Amino acid sequence: MRNEYEDEAFFQQYAQMPRSQEGLSAAGEWHQLRPLFPPLEGKSVLDLGCGYGWHCKFAAEQGARQVLGIDMSQKMIEEARRRNSGTGIRYQVCGIGEYTYPEAAWDCVVSNLALHYIEDLDTVFENIHRTLKEDGIFLFNMEHPVFTAGVGQDWVYGEDGAPLYWPVDRYFMPGERITHFLGCEVHKQHHTLTQILMGVLRAGFTLEAVEEAEPPTDMLEFPGMRDELRRPMMLLVRARVRG
Ligand SMILES: C[S@@+](CC[C@H](N)C(=O)[O-])C[C@H]1O[C@@H](n2cnc3c(N)ncnc32)[C@H](O)[C@@H]1O
Repeated sequence: MRNEYEDEAFFQQYAQMPRSQEGLSAAGEWHQLRPLFPPLEGKSVLDLGCGYGWHCKFAAEQGARQVLGIDMSQKMIEEARRRNSGTGIRYQVCGIGEYTYPEAAWDCVVSNLALHYIEDLDTVFENIHRTLKEDGIFLFNMEHPVFTAGVGQDWVYGEDGAPLYWPVDRYFMPGERITHFLGCEVHKQHHTLTQILMGVLRAGFTLEAVEEAEPPTDMLEFPGMRDELRRPMMLLVRARVRG
């Protein structure tokens, strides 16, 4: 399976992003994602598509006793081991589709900005439901359907080079979208809002929170941040295994 993060040029560009250099405090969604985490003291946490492992480290700092971050990119896992190791944290090179999802093994499954790479979301949701303990929490943030259905995932620009509007097309045609990001061709998967939320419900979860990421006011003066108020880029969901 292809993975842009294994591409050296892409990997180097990704390393320059503020979230790669400064971690969660530089991530525009963190002020909304953080309050959605359940208490993690003594809990076990699985992070799907963990990247550099920022959320694994956060979970360990919150008192989680066992944390596993998986990612299909060897380079990202090496970086996670280098930057975000700690007691109780393990990292494993493994695809979200390939992980074994042992039954009733985890208290919390988290996934940040990785599920829009997954074609068969329903199967992943079922696997996550199986691997969570009773009352377990599934917390994820993925690219919003309005963003993934964007044409080339980019604005339409005016003659002065400023973004005019965000084009949405082929919304009800889920599937692969080829985009350009950090100088690379990046392949993602578009799912409609109905597919995502109904998939979570069909898998046996109760929805506890649905949010669309808006940049915090103290980041609005960062380049391009005000434009993040013009269309949703990320969808945050907190779901619980029905008792
Ligand atoms: C945008 S990064 C997010 C990393 C991390 N969750 C964070 O928020 O900092 C997306 C990550 O998902 C990983 N990824 C993409 N598709 C994957 C798959 N099918 N299985 C496992 N990891 C995957 C990539 O290798 C990359 O590390």
